[in-house]
Amino acid sequence: MENNQTPKKRIFSGIQPTGNLTLGNYIGALRNFKLLENEYDCLYSIVDLHAITVRQNPAELRKACLRTMAIFLASGLDPEKNIIYFQSQAPQHAELGWILDCFTYMGELSRMTQFKDKSAKHADNINCGLFAYPTLMAADILLYMTDLVPIGADQKQHLELARDLAQRFNAIYGDVFVVPEPYIPKVGARVMSLQEPTRKMSKSDPEDTYIAILDKPEIIRKKMRRAVTDSDNMVRFDPENHAGISNLMSIMSALTGKTMDEITNEYDGRGYGVFKDAVADAVISVLEPIQKEYDRISADKAYLESVMVDGRERAQSIAYRTMLKVRKKVGLAPMKL
Ligand code: AMP
Ligand code: TRP
Repeated sequence: MENNQTPKKRIFSGIQPTGNLTLGNYIGALRNFKLLENEYDCLYSIVDLHAITVRQNPAELRKACLRTMAIFLASGLDPEKNIIYFQSQAPQHAELGWILDCFTYMGELSRMTQFKDKSAKHADNINCGLFAYPTLMAADILLYMTDLVPIGADQKQHLELARDLAQRFNAIYGDVFVVPEPYIPKVGARVMSLQEPTRKMSKSDPEDTYIAILDKPEIIRKKMRRAVTDSDNMVRFDPENHAGISNLMSIMSALTGKTMDEITNEYDGRGYGVFKDAVADAVISVLEPIQKEYDRISADKAYLESVMVDGRERAQSIAYRTMLKVRKKVGLAPMKL
């Protein structure tokens, strides 16, 4: 840690190790994380405990956790400047999650739209963990005295609960938790589905709707060519009426820094085939180096292991201090690290 006058603000974000991380995750999250690493004190947690709220294949889950960590590193995040770790390896998450459960009302959790969506999707397994997902997320955030939480719009309701719980706890026990604020990145295009461009590109949707960070160039070209656009071949930015082409333009702009006008001037009238190939080229030129780095890092098991151990130790030492305070306030006996 640097010896600044004012301590750096702390950022915490969690990402689920399920499915393939997408171009949307890269443009909307990972790329921005890299830009924050000098200005803020950042923790990025691979939230494996959240992942098991829906049934997972154990071998797959283990692989997915490591893959997610390797992608974080491959996209340039420095594991010394940032704490990158698996949520379940800091057991204080589960511990604080339980304590916060005891301060959360059934009504609050029943109102969560993600719970409603997920229970509709997994009607045969509406478990208590799925219900309490938002309190575990609140625990993630509050454990580290987090100032800022980078999140997408779908997570706003959960962050609101984390704020309510922090305030509720503080009102009873005095100032214990920092009340976190959402962090909206300065640049952060919302990448939409290639097949249904009015919906966000999501790793839990079918394969042809997203570009995975690890997709090979031929696949990227193929998916891009099949992306839904209009039939008039005009390249103009109008997300309301022409969501498909506008999405491809946003991707192009996010990756090359070109403005929408520049893109229109360069590609309008040349046919969507030409433009789609150009967008595919832009995506490939950004993802290829990340994939090379990913291959190198994934082959180096000892390195990955060392990042994992270092991350969990640093995370635990912060979480431990918070729990000492929380346990004392609530009336629980102290624990040794
Ligand atoms: P998720 O994949 O929903 O777990 O989201 C992980 C992070 O990636 C969050 O910060 C999201 O806001 C961001 N993200 C996910 N999908 C997109 C997208 N299609 N466009 C932009 N950002 C996204
Ligand atoms: N629920 C978040 C999502 O689905 C992931 C998450 C878990 C998270 N814990 C968090 C995000 C804490 C921010 C802060 O995207």
